[in-house]
Amino acid sequence: MKILGIESSCDETAAAVVQDGRLVLSNIVATQVEEHRLYGGVVPEIASRRHAENIVGVVDEALNKASCTLDDIDAVAVTYAPGLIGALLVGVNFAKGLCLAKDMKLVAVHHLRAHIASNYISDLELKPPFLCLVVSGGHSHIVEVKSYTNMKVIGKTRDDAAGEAFDKAARAMGIPYPGGIELDKIAEEGDENAFDFPHPKLNVLPGSSLYDFSFSGLKTAVINLIHNKEQKGEKIPVKDICAGYRKAVVSCLTDNFLKAAEDLGYKKLVIAGGVSANSLLRRNLESLCQEKGYKLYMPQKSLCSDNAAMVASQGYYEFIAGNVASQDLNAIATLPIDAQNR
Ligand code: KG4
Ligand code: ZN
Repeated sequence: MKILGIESSCDETAAAVVQDGRLVLSNIVATQVEEHRLYGGVVPEIASRRHAENIVGVVDEALNKASCTLDDIDAVAVTYAPGLIGALLVGVNFAKGLCLAKDMKLVAVHHLRAHIASNYISDLELKPPFLCLVVSGGHSHIVEVKSYTNMKVIGKTRDDAAGEAFDKAARAMGIPYPGGIELDKIAEEGDENAFDFPHPKLNVLPGSSLYDFSFSGLKTAVINLIHNKEQKGEKIPVKDICAGYRKAVVSCLTDNFLKAAEDLGYKKLVIAGGVSANSLLRRNLESLCQEKGYKLYMPQKSLCSDNAAMVASQGYYEFIAGNVASQDLNAIATLPIDAQNR
């Protein structure tokens, strides 16, 4: 079964054709990052306009590259939530139009479920159940993936997402948007023990899950450190700050993730989302999982960031579970990952 995936939740317009949820026949991404960089972050209005301009060409290219026409496509899977509403609406309406014109099935895909599915493409053996750390620009979740279409969040960020925490710290050091990627590279050359950043302990707060994260204190600590040095006219030791900060964020993520795995008895661990490309997160998890005898799955780096192959992959599993959408499908800016459990 061939599914055309469409993704437009943030600043990448993407389309892909995937066979039976696992075999990628094409995967096209048109990124707008250069334009948003001018403003230090994604400008929603610009994102929507660029999606509207790019979507026809991107879908055409995905079909051509897969040597398909719309007649070969069995269903269209589209990201409908969560994300920037105007951006999502471009993909959703385009997918609805295609389905109406060619009498195809429409499948609505949750963006974070799609990130998790990037692992089904990267490792053909991977099957639920497993425990997944989903870390992107907008979300940080620990998710029990009980089946392809049944998930439960057991820990999440109380404030900033991990990607956002990286991007904001990078911005304070003058690293252009999206700074997380560059901060990761610079950190490789720094001394991670030169500065001590706080390690928040949240489970003592009322209403917190044992596995919740918080990054706002860390972010404030790094911004204060930079401002303090600037006020004193000192040179900012960017490499060491990047290294120490990355170590602190990564240890918050790995501590809670491994604690949850141990408490709940998961031995199959998976990571997903833009931040899953982080070099230290990957290295540390690899060695910690090896020590504990856990099997770790990580998406190939090119599939960590937003793409439509992951949307088509999750779309396949939603489709076979009976999650088919109708022509009144709407885009939703905020939606929990378990809202479409089957
Ligand atoms: O999943 P994603 O592409 O988009 C969202 O759904 O949000 O994630 C983008 C986020 C950005 O915050 C970006 O800085 C971060 O992922 N990111 C990284 C790395 N690569 C991307 N953060 C840390 N280290 C990286 N290597
Ligand atoms: Zn994403």
